[in-house]
Amino acid sequence: MQMTSDKKSKQLHVLMEMSALINSTLDPDQVRMRAIESAMNLVDAEAASLLMIDESSNELVFEVAVGKKGKNLNEVRLKKGDGIAGWVAEHGVAQLVLDTQSDARFFSRIDELCGFTTRDLICVPVRSKEKIIGVLEAVNRKKGQFESADVDLLSTLANQVAIALENAFLHKKNLAQLTEMVSAEKQHQSEKDLLLKDLHDGIGGITANINILSELALKGESLAGMKKALAVIAELSREGVAEIRSFMNGLENGEGTWNDLAAELRRHGSCITEPHNINFDITTNVSNGDEKPGIFLYFMLFRIAREALTNIIKHSCARNVEVDFTAGSNGIALRVRDDGIGLKEGAVTGRGLANMKARAGEIGGWLTITSGPGTCVQFSTSDSAAMSKEYSA
Ligand SMILES: Nc1ncnc2c1ncn2[C@@H]1O[C@H](COP(=O)(O)OP(=O)(O)OP(=O)(O)O)[C@@H](O)[C@H]1O
Ligand SMILES: [Mg+2]
Repeated sequence: MQMTSDKKSKQLHVLMEMSALINSTLDPDQVRMRAIESAMNLVDAEAASLLMIDESSNELVFEVAVGKKGKNLNEVRLKKGDGIAGWVAEHGVAQLVLDTQSDARFFSRIDELCGFTTRDLICVPVRSKEKIIGVLEAVNRKKGQFESADVDLLSTLANQVAIALENAFLHKKNLAQLTEMVSAEKQHQSEKDLLLKDLHDGIGGITANINILSELALKGESLAGMKKALAVIAELSREGVAEIRSFMNGLENGEGTWNDLAAELRRHGSCITEPHNINFDITTNVSNGDEKPGIFLYFMLFRIAREALTNIIKHSCARNVEVDFTAGSNGIALRVRDDGIGLKEGAVTGRGLANMKARAGEIGGWLTITSGPGTCVQFSTSDSAAMSKEYSA
């Protein structure tokens, strides 16, 4: 039957309205819900449904269920090829079925579940970038029977649904990316704050000391005094170079691995003890050596070890230093011990020990400092990570 031009323009008007409605939301669930309502209105159907292809199982799923019995549809899954909807999903060709009961492809279980009798239906594929992502179905024309013009209308609507779904998915993806970026930025900011603190505590402190000593040396008159100041300046500048090197290594090479950290502890330890004729011995036990601890943890552990070693040089008069470093599934443990004079009772605490303790807490562990003869600084993240052999001087 030929449509009158009046009827046709009315339907086109409805189609435009429906397209605008579907495209006015970026919520995928809303798009689906509106698609079903629009399909019903557009072709004057008693019911409509939207089935989306679940790529993981290659089944068709009733994404949105409307109406009293709609809930039951949520549990229904059709294999591609099952029922008229499954056939359309597989072949990608729109179908107009005027007598469903006599169509061999018809799947009556859905009618049984909904307490509904399907007389006639239109089923069209929903395509996104040439790929079938679902099917849109309109069931039982309220007056008379569906016509081929209704198939064209529903197909046009299906194209709009596909675009709206694409936009909604893209929006959802963008939102997720944005959230990820915000949290990465926060993480970046806190790492930046910590690096600034390290610059201040490390290079900042060293440079300030070098500056004070050089000013003093310039004002001083005795050669011996100047030589003494120069010796300390030389020591401090060596520390500064080591600090900058480790800092740049961390930033330039990205994140180092556990193996890199173990190697850096070995290199730094032997480099700073050697000029003082101190024997240096290091034992590393890294079970996940190629994994990256992250720049933050890496720097923190290195700084704890470095301050403990600097203290040994400055205060201990030790002949031997031992470092034990363990990292694995049981946690992290780092011990630096010397055989020097030990902590003097009531010794004035500088910034080093306090900083080490604070850093230990910031990386989720704790620091113990014991003094027998000699001194032992131990960091660990858990009881089980603590060194197996207890410290004994
Ligand atoms: N291995 C050690 N052997 C002997 N004494 C130590 C050892 N480590 C620390 N101390 C003592 O503990 C004190 C506090 O150490 P801390 O690192 O906090 O300060 P500092 O080294 O004196 O100064 P800063 O670290 O701020 O430059 C030292 O002054 C020193 O008396
Ligand atoms: Mg110190």
